[in-house]
Amino acid sequence: MANLVIVGTQWGDEGKGKIVDILARDADVVARYQGGSNAGHTVVNDRGTFVFHLIPSGILYRSKLCVIGNGVVVDPEALIAEMDRLQAMGVKIGRNFLISHCAHLIMPYHKAIEKAAEQSKGSRRIGTTGRGIGPSYVDKMARIGIRAGDLLNPPVFRRKLEENLVETNNFLKQLCRTQGFQAEKVFQQYMGYADRLKGHITDTSVLLNKAIDNGKRVLFEGAQGTHLDVDFGTYPYVTSSSSCAGGACTGTGVGPTQIDRVMGVAKAYTTRVGSGPFPTELTDLVGGGLQERGKEFGSTTGRPRRCGWFDGVLVRYATRVNGLSSLVVTKLDVLDGCKELKLCTGYRHGGKLYKEMPADIQVLSECEPVYEAMPGWTGATTGVTSYKALPLQAKRYLSRIEELAACRIDMISTGTKRSETIMLRNPLGPARRASAAGRPRR
Ligand code: IMP
Repeated sequence: MANLVIVGTQWGDEGKGKIVDILARDADVVARYQGGSNAGHTVVNDRGTFVFHLIPSGILYRSKLCVIGNGVVVDPEALIAEMDRLQAMGVKIGRNFLISHCAHLIMPYHKAIEKAAEQSKGSRRIGTTGRGIGPSYVDKMARIGIRAGDLLNPPVFRRKLEENLVETNNFLKQLCRTQGFQAEKVFQQYMGYADRLKGHITDTSVLLNKAIDNGKRVLFEGAQGTHLDVDFGTYPYVTSSSSCAGGACTGTGVGPTQIDRVMGVAKAYTTRVGSGPFPTELTDLVGGGLQERGKEFGSTTGRPRRCGWFDGVLVRYATRVNGLSSLVVTKLDVLDGCKELKLCTGYRHGGKLYKEMPADIQVLSECEPVYEAMPGWTGATTGVTSYKALPLQAKRYLSRIEELAACRIDMISTGTKRSETIMLRNPLGPARRASAAGRPRR
């Protein structure tokens, strides 16, 4: 039985929510390992459309254990609102939902600091989601963060809060000319959250490892994507967490020897929300068409997503840094009706050809994509459930993606519903420990 990490291979929004929802059926535990309520994982099923920001989407199955790992930053207000929303839609959230006592909290001052920092950057702003993610991780690394476990110890919580507010209020008042925060008010607000969340906060690393020892299957649900990773992404235009597969270990307290496979999720084209380089971006009608047909608007902020052609360099990089064993290609149906498709095979800059991502962000911002054109297909792939039934040109397009990404495709998504999926091989099938990166099969 396999323990599997699901990771985005582009800049997030690859459709991980649907894939986790499908695979969660065959898993026992679903664990989020990084990020926070900046994520927006959408699942469409017979009961409606669910958008998850913090709670693992496995919660839709009653029998699954759902875990928020220590690597996640938790905004208790956003979490409680999400719990209420889900419960109103008939989803049961009881002892099957657990939060690591080591997960750091997002405090109201984190959002205020982020707002001020983004404003001061002007045209060089990151374009964050405004959820306080970066400043919360800053406090974690500065060793002044407040953790979920502190909600269970009011005197410690109060001391940490008061200490943090001395410096934070000075910063906010003097440099940003904004109001500071009153410790007592924030304390009371968070003690209210503690009442609601205390039954869910525990040492989740112990439980996850026990589950694995007992032969249970764990699905690690990555948020954002490889190119938003704080180390491997297009720094500084990234999020502040380790969204690559390695984050699954540091973000849950499960060792790397317990992970059998890593599945990368790649959209059949590319999107990005927020600022930063995007070599294959299309600012013309073709990009507008992808945005419209793909409903490319952020599920957290509603911002329009920038759209462009599939970038093989980007996804091959993701194969390498995540050690991908296979890929799932999503939103193939959005390309239905395109007369011609382009795939990026390299970049050109200053007369030099790059086959790998340039390390220099300025080079990446200025480079020209090198394209290979392929004919599109007539007929629809929407809702197709077998590989055989795909148009020949769609099969060729997928084969080329496998070659460029240097990774085998195990699943293809052809629509928003669970059923609109082609399963070539279940990645949660019998484990092959220490498997090499998947090689193209066809
Ligand atoms: P932050 O995570 O809010 O700090 O935002 C940093 C960058 O990551 C911005 O460009 C965001 O638009 C982007 N980002 C954060 N979360 C997501 C996500 O779930 N999908 C896509 N982009 C995201």
